[in-house]
Amino acid sequence: MKRREALKIGALGLMAAAVTPVMASKNENDEVNPYGKYREKIYNRNRYTKDAKNPTKGELKHTPEIKIGKKDAKGYTLVEITIGQEGIIHPSSEAHWIDFIELDADAKLVARTLFEPGKAMGYVAYKVKLDGVKKLTAREGCNKHGIWEYTINL
Ligand SMILES: [Fe+2]
Repeated sequence: MKRREALKIGALGLMAAAVTPVMASKNENDEVNPYGKYREKIYNRNRYTKDAKNPTKGELKHTPEIKIGKKDAKGYTLVEITIGQEGIIHPSSEAHWIDFIELDADAKLVARTLFEPGKAMGYVAYKVKLDGVKKLTAREGCNKHGIWEYTINL
């Protein structure tokens, strides 16, 4: 009886050893790619642009605002991005949130941040080398209202 139990436990151990690496690898991917568990909630990837002359409240709420700060001793300049202009801040809830913010310098991606719904608001601050850069474009994705961007000339 004891030998039979030992064999059973040994067989279960072998099965667990065979299964564990696959499960561990799946969990690691979920942590590396947070979109894994939210993918089905991100349903609008269309691109939109604010009407520059007569923007609606929804357009202001989704258009990134770029603020340039000071340059540090190593040559990196503070670039802050908020989502929402003229004081209208985009909300963050489980059903509706800013899921990413990206920053392009002269049309090349230099930074990207992903956000946890309901736990992080659409705001980032990056330190970027801006020497020679002529244009900065901030882009954001709202899971419900799509992708919006805003460009400033330096
Ligand atoms: Fe939205």
